[in-house]
Amino acid sequence: MSLIEIKDLNVHYPIRSGFFNRITDYVYAVDGINFNIEEGETYGLIGESGSGKSTTGKAIVGLEKVTSGQIIYNNQDITDRRTRKKMHYNKDVQMIFQDSMSSLNPRKRIEDIIAEPMRNFESLTDTEERDRVKELLDIVGMPSDSIYKYPHEFSGGQRQRIGVARAVATHPKLIIADEPVSALDLSVQAQVLNFMKKIQKEFDISYLFISHDLGVVKHMCRNLAIMHRGRLVEVGTREDIYNNPQHIYTKRLLAAIPKVNPSGREADKAHRRAVEKEYQEHQEKWYDKDGKVFPLQQISDTHYVALPPDEIAQMKTEVG
Ligand SMILES: Nc1ncnc2c1ncn2[C@@H]1O[C@H](COP(=O)(O)OP(=O)(O)O)[C@@H](O)[C@H]1O
Ligand SMILES: [Mg+2]
Repeated sequence: MSLIEIKDLNVHYPIRSGFFNRITDYVYAVDGINFNIEEGETYGLIGESGSGKSTTGKAIVGLEKVTSGQIIYNNQDITDRRTRKKMHYNKDVQMIFQDSMSSLNPRKRIEDIIAEPMRNFESLTDTEERDRVKELLDIVGMPSDSIYKYPHEFSGGQRQRIGVARAVATHPKLIIADEPVSALDLSVQAQVLNFMKKIQKEFDISYLFISHDLGVVKHMCRNLAIMHRGRLVEVGTREDIYNNPQHIYTKRLLAAIPKVNPSGREADKAHRRAVEKEYQEHQEKWYDKDGKVFPLQQISDTHYVALPPDEIAQMKTEVG
């Protein structure tokens, strides 16, 4: 049984216009996606800006209204707000954001910022609460006198640590991490990713790790879903996605990973140009006549790709 199952999730935003402010169209921010996250695993949700990742994350934690579809948590449909409340879902599922400067209240001290989610679910005495906050700070590698300070007194990396401390305060089972390291320098990124892994082991947490960068998540995720135009274009294990990508959009994301080794740079550039050319020249192969991503088709036990049925048939005969 999966920890959480996302079933045919849709989140559509109405577009209003004209004198009567009528709904004239919709933004299909999330357009029928499916995936499962297992207990203790890190699941990657990857795509360019605007592909619908944050909307997916927010819908899962209940910050965005679901248009249709289901979210099944521990075998219970929690799409409805009342069930979420009954199941203590909001204690079990927390979110970390990219921009900790705006997600941490600038007028509150660190003590109150970290204690806030605990206050919603537990009644601790002041001393108990302070001890817990200090313990959490220690876990994320921050000194205990941080409790008296304000968010602006810390660096971006330190603020992400504080955001993580706040997220784990309620002992969640799942953390939605929305681009948690995208605003940080490369060296700091590695530190934050490492302690996220450490905390995952210690507390047995699952992550939905959202990123636009396949390079960042390579050593984090066991399974990944590649999102584009509100849909999933490819789903698979780390090996499927990094070693055997099938959709041109996945190949483009892989080609965009910055290379550390300078010797292969010219070859890299040539590869990126070739992928881009293939993408531009064969739009009809990758998208239907309305520009939508095709439904996913299974090509192995673990690997799914959004291609037209005849392409899949051809692939299968080539392999078989
Ligand atoms: N509140 C909103 N109202 C209308 N459109 C929105 C809203 N939030 C996001 N969108 C649109 O939905 C699409 C997906 O956005 P988002 O989920 O933020 O993508 P990502 O996180 O992958 O960058 C974008 O086209 C965005 O402009
Ligand atoms: Mg986003």
